Amino acid sequence: MSQSGDRVVRAGFIGVGNFVAGNHLPNIAASKLWQVAAVCDLDEAARGRAVERYAPLYETADYRRLLADPGIDAIVLGVQHQHHLPFIREIAAAGKHMLVEKPMTVDDAESRQVVEAVRAANVKLMVGFNRRFAPLAVEAKRVFHQRNRGKQALITYRAVDDRFFWPDYAFDPKRGGGKIMCECCHFFDFLHWFLEAEPVRVFCEGYREDQNVVSLRFDDGSIGSIISGGNGSVAFPKERMEVFCDRTTMVLDQMLWMQLEGYEDAGDRVGSWEKDPFPNVGTDGTPHERHRAKLGHWLKHGIQPEDFARKAYYGSFPKADLGHFAEIEAFARAILADTPSPCDEVAGARATACSTAAIRSMEAGYVPVAVRREEYLPG
Ligand SMILES: NC(=O)c1ccc[n+]([C@@H]2O[C@H](COP(=O)([O-])OP(=O)(O)OC[C@H]3O[C@@H](n4cnc5c(N)ncnc54)[C@H](O)[C@@H]3O)[C@@H](O)[C@H]2O)c1
Repeated sequence: MSQSGDRVVRAGFIGVGNFVAGNHLPNIAASKLWQVAAVCDLDEAARGRAVERYAPLYETADYRRLLADPGIDAIVLGVQHQHHLPFIREIAAAGKHMLVEKPMTVDDAESRQVVEAVRAANVKLMVGFNRRFAPLAVEAKRVFHQRNRGKQALITYRAVDDRFFWPDYAFDPKRGGGKIMCECCHFFDFLHWFLEAEPVRVFCEGYREDQNVVSLRFDDGSIGSIISGGNGSVAFPKERMEVFCDRTTMVLDQMLWMQLEGYEDAGDRVGSWEKDPFPNVGTDGTPHERHRAKLGHWLKHGIQPEDFARKAYYGSFPKADLGHFAEIEAFARAILADTPSPCDEVAGARATACSTAAIRSMEAGYVPVAVRREEYLPG
């Protein structure tokens, strides 16, 4: 991509706050497929931290400088999602590809505009639904479909942690949109991707800010539930998926441990750590027990006061491989080979449609709400 012909994607970052500074910046800096070309943030301190660690070619507070720069191939958009739409439109109009953090949009009208803008400009958009790229999730999907393709599944995804560790904007319906918007979008996308089925109906019991139980029906007859909340402990592994289908059981524990029963392709699998700051803690027991021991240790000894003040834990948190690195490499390969985005604007629109359907379900007095492609995609 670069003019010297060295086949890397030159990234310009707009917004290098908590998430991007802890994930995309270090991953893109470590990838041979990318180059950290330019960093933009309104916050001088955030910019300073990025410059010190990743030495971009330049820094700026003016994102339009990146859009006008022919030396930038793709933008990594890390501003809070309630502000995505105008940026996405401008980035597309500038002819740049973009990695947009999740959720891509906050309602269906925004989604239709994004899909139109991206298609009109013929650029690639990738949404940051990283769990699709977690190595153990990829293996789980392979094993599931080899045995169960075309069969109806019953699937649950539980993700509960402690909201005290989240930034406040996430829970504000007017800003982050609540956890149903900020986080459940991940699981709507993940279940669609895993089952290869379209969500057609959503029912949600819970609250806009936090604490939701969502039921989903898919077009292949599969049914799913998502349990999402912030009233648990961060010292316990947050996520667990269970899939039941035609006398098989699959459990995926935090992308670290896959347990199987009823599959010919038998044998449990163990995932890997993306970041393990405590290799000497939790060395015995099951992957779940090891993970739990590391989280407990982090909670007692691993949190730095300055991280706590900024609610920025990505540098210190013991983290299973949730696919963040594979995600950015998959996008670079799509750009370099000119193939479709591996998690495109339609995926972003679909997940937002499920979140907004769940919100409508609650607001209408807890009723089922249909999810229709013709409502979240342009005609
Ligand atoms: N994939 C995941 O698992 C995951 C996890 C957490 C957050 N996220 C997403 O990442 C995105 C960022 O969230 P965050 O919590 O890191 O937010 P944040 O507030 O920490 O960071 C946003 C940054 O954007 C900067 N910014 C705002 N307007 C700007 C402008 N006009 N020009 C340049 N910079 C500007 C801010 O100064 C700030 O540094 C959100 O969409 C969020 O939902 C994804």
